Amino acid sequence: MRVVELIERKRDGGKLTADEIDALVQGYTKGDVPDYQMSAFCMAVVWRGMDAKETAALTASMVRSGERLDLARFGRVVDKHSTGGVGDKTTLVVAPLVAACGVPVAKMSGRGLGFSGGTLDKLESIRGYRVDLSTAEFLAQLERIGIVVTGQTGDLAPADGKLYALRDTTGTVPAIPLIASSVMSKKIAAGANAVVLDVKVGSGAFMKDIASARELARAMVAIGVAHGLAVTCELTDMEQPLGNAVGNSLEIAEAIATLRGQGPADLVQLTRAAGAEMLVRGRKARDRKSAVARIDSALADGSGFAKFRELVAAQGGDISQVDDPAKLPRAPRVETLRATRTAYVSAITADQIGIASVRLGAGREKKGDPIDHRTGIVLHAKVGDRVERGQPYADVHVSGKPADADAIALIRGAFGWSARRVPRRRLILGRIASR
Ligand code: URA
Repeated sequence: MRVVELIERKRDGGKLTADEIDALVQGYTKGDVPDYQMSAFCMAVVWRGMDAKETAALTASMVRSGERLDLARFGRVVDKHSTGGVGDKTTLVVAPLVAACGVPVAKMSGRGLGFSGGTLDKLESIRGYRVDLSTAEFLAQLERIGIVVTGQTGDLAPADGKLYALRDTTGTVPAIPLIASSVMSKKIAAGANAVVLDVKVGSGAFMKDIASARELARAMVAIGVAHGLAVTCELTDMEQPLGNAVGNSLEIAEAIATLRGQGPADLVQLTRAAGAEMLVRGRKARDRKSAVARIDSALADGSGFAKFRELVAAQGGDISQVDDPAKLPRAPRVETLRATRTAYVSAITADQIGIASVRLGAGREKKGDPIDHRTGIVLHAKVGDRVERGQPYADVHVSGKPADADAIALIRGAFGWSARRVPRRRLILGRIASR
């Protein structure tokens, strides 16, 4: 196989066979196909796409690049995944709540991708928290406490692990076949019976409009069904950030507050919806209504928070930072942005906030960059809120770098204002699911 011929064929809108795709994926995983050729191929897919057969072949090949876990002895195991957004810390809240309700949650999370944050980066704000569990440790912890949130082990869909990092820094994330195969290959390899997918839509998501979000959702449901997985996709708004906090330790603090019953309304709404769906898919609740009631009681009685503590302790994290989030890493300075006139917030462009958080150091500009867990943004107003002149609308947690000024300008520019009342945004926009 000459890799350049495959790149050229895709570049010119042609199709690849399953064998050709497999040779490319296995070659890349082993290091025989270099990064520059794989990035050129991904860019060709961004422009030319892949049909359902090619996408299925790509997914199957990525699953085959490593081992596939057998979790049958745990009963019905449910997984959850978000296609990525700004301020999306839902996993950190939902996973312990669902595990507290008796459904085993085996979660392999990712790092930040482009301007969207990653659960692993957030969890590493907690001193000592390990995201590199081996497969044996993963299984032992799932057995012992019914919850694991770790990185993809090198053994599971390693092709995706490598490709994901490459795409992050080569502008090749937003392609439906690449996203669908990336998400689903890890879910299939990780061995869950059902998966609840949060497909984000809007400026802060990879899918900018509802039509492409639906297309992605349908692609992922089809892949899941072909591999024997029950799949639910919730389509949710990412036109403004989710919750108030954006940035790693700030988001951990917000997740902890939510588990203690003091979460922002949108994050709580999404948590209840995703958590209830996971309980239904895990066959621990008969219907959505009773599932929501169980999630609510795990929030109210503190069992979700207790499960989060157990999770952090099991993975070597410092529990004192969970009990007292003021002990999480903190930026040396906070710049407060105040309204120059009384007005309603009409927009908080999520991608601008995401890009600002990267400038502040909370995300990566290029593959392998270190991140600053302390920095980020806390919003004091969301779309539809009225802010009085002189009142704060955002706190920017800065480390004192020259790029901070740039980030602050981006945050100011992300806010739209209106003298007239503005409706709040609808959060849950649709649902596409297998039976
Ligand atoms: N999340 C993933 O796991 N992969 C993608 O490609 C995008 C979002």
